[in-house]
Parts: sequence; structure tokens; C-alpha cells
Amino acid sequence: MVDTETFVPDAIDEIRAEIGDANAVIALSGGVDSSVAAALAYEAIGDQLTPVYVDTGLMRKGETAGIRDTFDYMDSLRIVDAKDRFLDALAGVTDPEAKREIIGEQFIREFEREATEADADYLVQGTIYPDRIESEGGIKSHHNVGGLPDVVDFDGIVEPVRDLYKDEVRDVARHLDLEEVVAERMPFPGPGLAVRVIGEVTDEKLEVARHACHVVEDELEEYDPWQALAAVIGKATGVKGDNRVHGWVVSVRSVESRDGMTARAQEIDWETLQRIQSRITGQNDNVARVVYDVTHKPPATIEYE
Ligand code: XMP
Repeated sequence: MVDTETFVPDAIDEIRAEIGDANAVIALSGGVDSSVAAALAYEAIGDQLTPVYVDTGLMRKGETAGIRDTFDYMDSLRIVDAKDRFLDALAGVTDPEAKREIIGEQFIREFEREATEADADYLVQGTIYPDRIESEGGIKSHHNVGGLPDVVDFDGIVEPVRDLYKDEVRDVARHLDLEEVVAERMPFPGPGLAVRVIGEVTDEKLEVARHACHVVEDELEEYDPWQALAAVIGKATGVKGDNRVHGWVVSVRSVESRDGMTARAQEIDWETLQRIQSRITGQNDNVARVVYDVTHKPPATIEYE
């Protein structure tokens, strides 16, 4: 295990030696790896570091506010409100892979602009040891390795936690008093809620998905799922008051998994499912019904797109 007492000052010294008087940027996702890398780099070079958090509008409830609270002490923190630009770019797009591609491209565009404005020569990344092994071994290309560095011409890439495993990064986070990011949230896909609304991404569908995901995470915490989520999967007829309405269908999903490669749908008791249904339909007039997904992976995937 990492000795945080020596790791932290050594890492800070190293970052300072590498970056010197230059400027640096880091893309903050709110995850523990980028949070720790940002905290170490900020300790080392202060406001020469611009931590950039891009609010895509596809985040979970409270996510952006959480970032603002946690990193409030960094004067140079940039929270980029890019919601409208992401929604505009996604308008009319229904193909799942096209949606992913547009989101990735838009993210790079946002980050590139911020890096240029910050006059950054260095890119700090929260790459951890398993990311490097997976990329070097060709198992999968990891978003922390490659990708971003190609778009802006940086003098160097600084990876302060590159030799650590996830649990060691958590130890360092605790040592740095980053308790908020240590609490393990469920995995959340890079394209965010866009893969939890089937078809075109609209404000209305995102709002339903965001609220429903919040309800599901809240109600299913005691089941300790690998992932619990809700998705807007289409429209169906319902009755609200005295009227027949054509409203959204929300699918609730809760799975157990070891690594996300395969998954088992969880058995949830009826009262809990009914409570979820009643909270989602009660607070969203435009939701006509709530269903529970009993499909394992395979044949289904965990997300809906
Ligand atoms: P699927 O839906 O393929 O998901 O069974 C397996 C795991 O990967 C996450 N996931 C993604 N993560 N970008 C990500 O960073 C993506 O495009 C993406 N798609 C799925 C999903 O949440 C689950 O944990």
C-alpha cells in the first residue's frame, strides 16, 4: 500500500519540479482519480493550474454543485456551463453511437478552448496504474491515455497518480481531506444521461431521467447494487386526473456485477418498487408508467444505449 505521509509531499515536489513557472490544466470529472490529481497539482502550483469542469447538462442531480463545493478553495476552478452547446449539438440525433461521438467531440472542443484561454503548457491527468496497463496491453483504449493530449499541443503531460491502484488513490484522497469524493458513487457513463434517454436528447427527457435516477439511487441504496438507474424509453398512454395522456415510460434497472462485463438484474421487493413508481409518477406529470427491467447482461446491456 502507498505510504501517504511520504507520497503526498513527494508528488507535490515532483509536480512543482516538472511544471515550474508554466501553466497547466486538468479536466475534472468529479471522480476520485482526477480529483486527487487536481488537489496534488493545486497544492504544488496553485493558480497556475486551471481545473476545468465541463457541465454537459447530462450529469446527475447535484453533481455540478458537489464539484463546486469540493473544489471551492481553488480560485482558478473553471466550471463551464456547456449545457446549451451540448443540447444544440445533439438536436435531432437519435443514433446511439452518433450521440456518443458528438458528446466526445464537444467535450474536446470545450476543453481545448479552456486550455488555450488558460495558456496552458502542461496537461495534468488522473491516469492510474490499471489505466496504463489496460492501454499498453491493448485491452482497451482508455480515455485518460491518449485522446485529449492529441488535440492541444502541450509541452508535457503530468500524471501524479500514475503508479497507484484505485484503493491507494482513495487513501491519498482521505489524506487530502477529499472525503466527498472518496464516498464511492455508482459508476456513471461518460456520455451521462444521454445514454439513459432513448432517441433524441431533449431537455424534457433529461429532466425526467435525472429525477428518476435520483429516486432510484436513493431508494435502492440498501440493495448495494453495482448500478441502479432509470431511463426514459418511450411513450405510452396513461390516465392523469380525468384525462388520458400520452406520457413517458420510465424503466428502472438495478444490477449486480463484478466488472460491468456481465450483470444480473436484482430482485427488488414490491413495496420498494411501488415507492419508486409513486415518487417518479408523482413528481413528473409527464410520466405515464414505470416498469422494472428484469433482463440480465447478456442479453441486455446495463445502459439503454
Ligand atoms: P453497458 O451498457 O455496455 O455498460 O453494459 C457497461 C458499463 O460501462 C458503462 N458505460 C460507459 N462508460 N462511456 C463510459 O465511460 C460510455 O460510453 C459507456 N457506456 C456504458 C456503464 O455505465 C456500465 O458501468
